[in-house]
Amino acid sequence: MNCAAPSPVPEVKLIDVARTRRDTPACEKVVHFNNAGASLMPNLVLDTCIEHLWLEARIGGYEAAEEAQARHEAIYRSIATLLHASPEEIALADSATRAWHLAFQGLQTPRGAKILTTRTSYASNFIAFLHRARKDGLEIDVAPCDDAGDLDLDAFEQRIDGRVALIALTHIPTNGGIINPAEAVGKIARKYGVPYLLDACQSAGQLPLDVTRIGCDMLSSTGRKFLRAPRGTGFLYVRRAFLDRLEPPMPDLHSATWTTPDDYRPHEGMRAFEMWESNLAMKLGLGAAVDYALDLGLDAIRGRIRDLADLLRRRLHALNGIRVRDTGTEQGGIVTFDIANVAASIVKSRLREQSMHITVSLPSHTLLDAMERNLPKMVRASVHYYNTEEEIDRFCEAVHAISSKDA
Ligand SMILES: Cc1ncc(COP(=O)(O)O)c(C=O)c1O
Repeated sequence: MNCAAPSPVPEVKLIDVARTRRDTPACEKVVHFNNAGASLMPNLVLDTCIEHLWLEARIGGYEAAEEAQARHEAIYRSIATLLHASPEEIALADSATRAWHLAFQGLQTPRGAKILTTRTSYASNFIAFLHRARKDGLEIDVAPCDDAGDLDLDAFEQRIDGRVALIALTHIPTNGGIINPAEAVGKIARKYGVPYLLDACQSAGQLPLDVTRIGCDMLSSTGRKFLRAPRGTGFLYVRRAFLDRLEPPMPDLHSATWTTPDDYRPHEGMRAFEMWESNLAMKLGLGAAVDYALDLGLDAIRGRIRDLADLLRRRLHALNGIRVRDTGTEQGGIVTFDIANVAASIVKSRLREQSMHITVSLPSHTLLDAMERNLPKMVRASVHYYNTEEEIDRFCEAVHAISSKDA
């Protein structure tokens, strides 16, 4: 007889929605389904920013920075915890695109090298590919998706050859619902030793992220979306062993020392990707937002967002005249749809009159995907854990009314 004690069932942590709503008083005033644009900040984040601005006002910006030095350092530790990285692998930036560019422009590639990417690439990233294609003769190769919209991993792998100098993946695209298989792509990147840059702008704060499991060399994100930090914040992760493959593209006196009239010495480590001037109040807000997310738990956050988004998709599917445009086997908190005969901009303004927030997703934001699927301008409704089932009901009633009135 086996008398071993049963192993304890791991406790499933759930989001205390009421608490998160108390922490976010605006929740009671608006139905905020624009979290993929910018989430509502918890009070704690707002207070952190404002307190630092008051300190700057009282004693001066440089002096306030000196007093906040320990808390400034703690931001790197918080982001490292979020990503399962080390603080020395993190640089702070003022947007996801800026962070992404620091890596992309810093990567030295020979003329004629290829970038391997996918159909759901974010517009700014693809514009940067085109820019480097013109400037440095890089080639862009776009791997196909299958009928479900999922990346075809076999086809992706088959496209790797000696010329592929970068794999660039958008983890959660700006629209379309899908979560791309970052870990499976990482396995391919590792197998062939190809540098891998992950755009985690919509996944940081929405999904648990572990850079070692994902296998990426570089990862960029913003603070303002699912992490609930203030606008104007972002960060870049670069794997320590990969760092010497990058050349910081915008050296200044913070990232390098001017040593002789005709020479300078770049500083070592990730701080070489930052510049001297920055908005410390907002950065401290980013640190507070990351700590808030870590306290709630990323698994719990992921579960709650997935449940709410699934519910929203099901409810919208049930409405006449609404076409939910999401694809993919694994989906996140971004729900995109259109209403027959009603322009997305009209839907946006009608909803806004009722204090319901969405955004309009343009075909040019994900042009390749939009062309492939013949997508119109779409309504993008993105939920967060602090949203409720009752808000989804009210939202769907409003969408139904808009579609019926204009039918
Ligand atoms: C997938 C994705 N990547 C990058 C970005 C750019 O982020 P930022 O505006 O912070 O530069 C966005 C913004 O919506 C996005 O959705």
